[in-house]
Amino acid sequence: MKSFVMLSLALVASPAAFASLDLAQKKNCMACHAVDRKLVGPAYKDVAAKYANDKEAYKKLAEKIIKGGKDVWGPVPMPANSQVTPAEAETLAKWVLTLK
Ligand code: HEC
Repeated sequence: MKSFVMLSLALVASPAAFASLDLAQKKNCMACHAVDRKLVGPAYKDVAAKYANDKEAYKKLAEKIIKGGKDVWGPVPMPANSQVTPAEAETLAKWVLTLK
């Protein structure tokens, strides 16, 4: 039963998830981030875990994706990603928060 639910979720979730991964690759996010391990920036699944109880987190993450920032995960800053539109940043932030 559990695996059936997981499989169904995977089937429902994957087209959007692939589209977002594609966007993250196009916007160069994956040069510094991976889903499951720390590179220059934190693993996306660690970001999702940190904000799991914060329903508004996508808003501040979307803003930070565009403007950059530091001191949340360590001294290394994320530079501004000015090639990302606000709508794209929101899509990316929401996607990151779904990664577990
Ligand atoms: C040059 C490397 C680099 C690039 C490119 C980059 N990041 Fe980051 N990212 C970082 C670093 C370093 C941090 C940790 C910043 C901190 O500690 O506050 C971070 C943090 C984050 C966080 C967590 C922010 C928080 O406050 O918890 C998210 C979400 C994120 N990045 C998404 C993205 C997305 C989406 C893109 C592509 C548009 C991207 N990053 C591109 C290096 C990068």
